[in-house]
Amino acid sequence: MDERERQLAYIEKCRELYEKKVEELGRKLSFHVTTFGCQMNARDSEKLCGILESIGYVQEDEEEKADLILFNTCTVRDNANQRVYGHLGVLKKYKRLNPELKIGICGCMMQEKTAVEKIRKSYPYVDIIFGTHNVFKLAEIMYHSYTSEGMIIDLWEETEQIVEDLPVDRKYSFKSGVNIMFGCNNFCSYCIVPYVRGRERSRRPSDIVTEIEKLVADGVVEVMLLGQNVNSYGLDFVKKQKNGTLEEDVEVITFPELLKRIEKIDGLKRIRFMTSHPKDLSDELIEVMKNSKKICHHMHLPLQSGSSRLLADMNRHYTKEQYVELALKLRREIPDIAITTDIIVGYPGETKEDVDETLDVIRTVQYDNAFTFQYSKRTGTPAAAREDQVEKAQVQEQFDRVLSLVQETSKARTALLEGQVLSALVEDVDEQQEGYVTGRLGNNNCVHFPGSIALIGSIVEVKLTKCMGFYYIGEMV
Ligand code: 5AD
Ligand code: SF4
Repeated sequence: MDERERQLAYIEKCRELYEKKVEELGRKLSFHVTTFGCQMNARDSEKLCGILESIGYVQEDEEEKADLILFNTCTVRDNANQRVYGHLGVLKKYKRLNPELKIGICGCMMQEKTAVEKIRKSYPYVDIIFGTHNVFKLAEIMYHSYTSEGMIIDLWEETEQIVEDLPVDRKYSFKSGVNIMFGCNNFCSYCIVPYVRGRERSRRPSDIVTEIEKLVADGVVEVMLLGQNVNSYGLDFVKKQKNGTLEEDVEVITFPELLKRIEKIDGLKRIRFMTSHPKDLSDELIEVMKNSKKICHHMHLPLQSGSSRLLADMNRHYTKEQYVELALKLRREIPDIAITTDIIVGYPGETKEDVDETLDVIRTVQYDNAFTFQYSKRTGTPAAAREDQVEKAQVQEQFDRVLSLVQETSKARTALLEGQVLSALVEDVDEQQEGYVTGRLGNNNCVHFPGSIALIGSIVEVKLTKCMGFYYIGEMV
């Protein structure tokens, strides 16, 4: 029996136990999942929900009413960790009120030994703990929790295993994330991800294509290809091929080639991907993007800092000049491309002059949008051990400078498209204005326009009549 079949068998076993419980209590049991962090986590949560629903659980929007509360955690910055601890305190009360309640924690934070120790000691009423490598095992873990006493902890430090094709409950019927690779090999000096998500592992091209074909058959028109560093897709296969450890039936292709294959899938209308590392964004990728009818003209290209001195220390493998050249090349080759980025302010040793360099890049590249973060010290990373940590007040002051420039350029970029007619994928009804829907443009911006719920999931042409800062009001044409 392979791992997928084992897990399907556990879903079946859990279902039997679940049904007994339902009979005993005279009601169904429900679950509530809270997701922190990135799109990878969001996708993992869809997998968790899929497994729980296959067991019989029903989704409950109000956390305090649920019989199973699951936190899918993030640990990239400390504030997410603090939110989890804060919230666990509240759950103790729920547990007194509902003896059936199970509490589970999974995700990146659980890959850190110190966090798990803290939960063990300070929050002993947590029932299950698992990590990022064994999300597919939820049914097996639940089974052990049903049939034994105490906290179930199932953590793997590393894995080569990729288990797929288990039930998934997608948040949107018409779009989906698709993992193309897991882990990261880059070890940027500030980042915890390589320690909690392990080394890069690519999925086989044929598995990715098959998954997308199935999604399309199920109504999906847009996919977001997910990886910490999609540009290095397939490089682990190349390495294994060289040292003779690659399994025979694995086809070795690069990211641009993978995109070309996905493009050919009938019925698929839009392709997105994230995240791209600037150090290995190839001309071939730009070429494929330029010639594609389906790949959205949006590139998320994390800068982190504009100071070449800090970039070297961060282990980013590019200088300010190389980054700017790449961004300008993208703008030249694909004039309507939207470029977005991540920026860290307050990295150890950062001076006002370093931030000036960052501001200079923002001015030159004119980002369509940028996520600006204050540096967060992550225990175990090289940057955390440095003695020249920047004082909080200085970080805040520099952060404000970066944020205000980023908002300025982003508004200016948004204003440029006013009056144009572009296609938008209708994602939702607009909560703010009755009779309106919200669509997403290829460049990832939103437009609100009059329309009905029946439009959700379709791609329509919309005139961007009025720019409202970071979004538009429009009308269908
Ligand atoms: N502190 C602040 N921001 C961080 N990021 C990663 N690690 C840290 C950290 N220690 C940011 C980077 C990355 C994004 C996902 O999170 O900008 O691109
Ligand atoms: Fe972290 Fe760098 Fe990997 Fe991104 S590329 S996940 S910032 S180590």
